[in-house]
Amino acid sequence: MIDERDWVEFKRKLKIKTEIDLDLYKAPQMQRRIGNLMTRNGFDTYCAYFEHVVKNRDELASFIEYLTINVSEFFRTPEKFSKLETDVIPELLKHSPKLNIWSAGCSIGAEPYSLAMIMKEMTPGRQHRILASDLDIEILSKAKQGTYTANELKSISPQRLAKYFDKVDGKYVVKDDIKSCIEFKRHNLLKDSFETGFDLILCRNVVIYFTEEAKDQLYASFFRALKPGGILFVGATEAILNFRTMGYTSYQPFFYQKPI
Ligand SMILES: C[S@@+](CC[C@H](N)C(=O)[O-])C[C@H]1O[C@@H](n2cnc3c(N)ncnc32)[C@H](O)[C@@H]1O
Repeated sequence: MIDERDWVEFKRKLKIKTEIDLDLYKAPQMQRRIGNLMTRNGFDTYCAYFEHVVKNRDELASFIEYLTINVSEFFRTPEKFSKLETDVIPELLKHSPKLNIWSAGCSIGAEPYSLAMIMKEMTPGRQHRILASDLDIEILSKAKQGTYTANELKSISPQRLAKYFDKVDGKYVVKDDIKSCIEFKRHNLLKDSFETGFDLILCRNVVIYFTEEAKDQLYASFFRALKPGGILFVGATEAILNFRTMGYTSYQPFFYQKPI
């Protein structure tokens, strides 16, 4: 049984400390995830657990990491990712030679680095803008560092692995020419204001615990952030059912376009 007052107080404190507003996330899932962590650490209430977590910087960082779920990999869902190369990017390049791309909820950086590789191959020598943002500062510093395990690279081709990474102490480090293509920034999709003028926005595997209202608002904000003709790419289980009401057309499954 959830003690409602404990939960409300916990959400209030968490929001002040981290700017994460749990009212915009699905309550049962969040209560279950945080509850598991709380019990595992021997606490009976959310607030007692929170007091413990905020005493230690590392503990708070790993709590946020757990809460936001940072799992990612290069070229995640390869068959969808390859649609970028065959269809989406060629379509966008017809309208603009230099693309403005946003990887929203970029986690460890695998997604924006994968994009940088594709852009380099498709338009050699041309500089596009790739903005990569996440709520979690710790994960952004891992992303900037660009060091990965073989597991995070399981969907990358051996050619790309050899071309774009240096092997250091059994791990793979992204080369500087790929790193320099990305602009990393902290950004909370549920709170901060959005830039505009994007040709392509990727927001994949980020909204899983957002409430339906929060998702609707987010997709409406992405619509405003896209240029006419721009495309939003969502996760493989995150089809937007009411895309038409928001003004999008369906470009392909999981790709939504703002009409020109
Ligand atoms: C599972 S990862 C997805 C990474 C990548 N897009 C992919 O598909 O592999 C989800 C990321 O969303 C971020 N996230 C969750 N809530 C967010 C919010 N409100 N604003 C920005 N990023 C958020 C998390 O910190 C996490 O790094």
